[in-house]
Amino acid sequence: MQHPDTKLLERVVSQVGTPVIIYDEDAIAKKMQTYVNSMKTEHFNTRVLYASKAFLCDAMAKLAYDNDMYFDAVSGGEIDVLKRAGIPAERIYFHGNNKTAKEISDFFLMGRGHIVVDNKDELSLVTDIANGLARQMDVLIRVNPGIEAHTHEYIQTATKDSKFGISIEQTKALEEMIRAIKKDHFLFFKGFHAHIGSQIFEIDAFEAEIAVMGQFIDMVEHKWDVNVEELDLGGGFAISFTDEDKAVPVETICKRIIKSCEDIVNDRKLSLKVISIEPGRSVVGDNAYTIYTAGNRKRTFTKRYLFIDGGMADNIRPALYQADYQCVNLTREDEVCDQKLELAGKCCESGDIIVKGAMLPEPKPGDLILVYATGAYGYSMASNYNRLGRPPVVFIKGKSAREVLRRETYDDMYALESDKTLF
Ligand code: LLP
Repeated sequence: MQHPDTKLLERVVSQVGTPVIIYDEDAIAKKMQTYVNSMKTEHFNTRVLYASKAFLCDAMAKLAYDNDMYFDAVSGGEIDVLKRAGIPAERIYFHGNNKTAKEISDFFLMGRGHIVVDNKDELSLVTDIANGLARQMDVLIRVNPGIEAHTHEYIQTATKDSKFGISIEQTKALEEMIRAIKKDHFLFFKGFHAHIGSQIFEIDAFEAEIAVMGQFIDMVEHKWDVNVEELDLGGGFAISFTDEDKAVPVETICKRIIKSCEDIVNDRKLSLKVISIEPGRSVVGDNAYTIYTAGNRKRTFTKRYLFIDGGMADNIRPALYQADYQCVNLTREDEVCDQKLELAGKCCESGDIIVKGAMLPEPKPGDLILVYATGAYGYSMASNYNRLGRPPVVFIKGKSAREVLRRETYDDMYALESDKTLF
């Protein structure tokens, strides 16, 4: 695996310390452009939505906007960041299975965007708010196509009971929801959204999703006589976390998605005009690196540990999902990697191991250890466990670097302390 110039990384560390998460801005911009360009076709308008949950801050929102991306947001908090970054509502798709009345109203007040309605209760709430505020909104319904894809496999009809969306087999509920939207003066029915999983290597899974959705839309258009303008296929495209992973190039994924959509639209005579996808992980994941400082070492009966100054508080994925990562000792890059080490964090939990059995050179306290591909769901799922502050985030671009999120301090954490009598 490759990382940016070591001297540049060391300069960043000398300024902001460790742990630090460093994003390569040019690489991210290039990935975004590859997505946007590879999705282009003369047959549809296509939209690439950046799934903000993967990693979001002001600089990230602006970078995505400058590269023609739309946004998938799932909470008032994410929308707030987008709004402050100057992203207009029409660029935002508001997802989520339990949006609050406040989150929905705030979004209506921002302008006419897209709400992806998850369930019937939510539709009633959205309808009441739209009418109460007399504001317009484009609406998609999240459906569940019964395909669940995870790393290296996918299964059809496996997720009928998912907490997300309405199963495409619940036709009565879906027809009622569509009719209700179409009857409303402020809501505009646009189409459907589906999302089949994350870190998916098989393009077949997306093709299966398109086939199932095409068949469903065929019924909606030709049996219910409802025009379906947009199909949002969700995200989930895999990246390589280690040398073992073989992620499919973005161009290939997009071309096959577009081809399948074109075929299904022709075969079934559908009126789809907009095809959207929502990559999160694959935009930022493999274009960021976390650098830690090595501390104490320990030998047990069968293992050797190398402790680092961060861990599950800044990257919970290994502990939560047994996710694999790869690392390198930046300080000793030209030394032989003949030591098998457990790269363990400093948190009070045995599962706090960031890389299991890493082959590294003999380490010394103070060495800089870089972990690859930490850009997605690391910072966004970070916590203050053991009262560790979140690390700073730095964007590098060519030979320059800028801090876009500063390190969280004890004062930041202490600022939440309260002593307010409630009753
Ligand atoms: N769209 C929807 C509706 C989603 O639920 C998600 C991810 C995405 C798009 C973006 O998926 P991506 O392209 O990033 O795979 N915390 C987990 C991942 C959870 C993904 C949740 N939804 C992890 O760290 O692996």
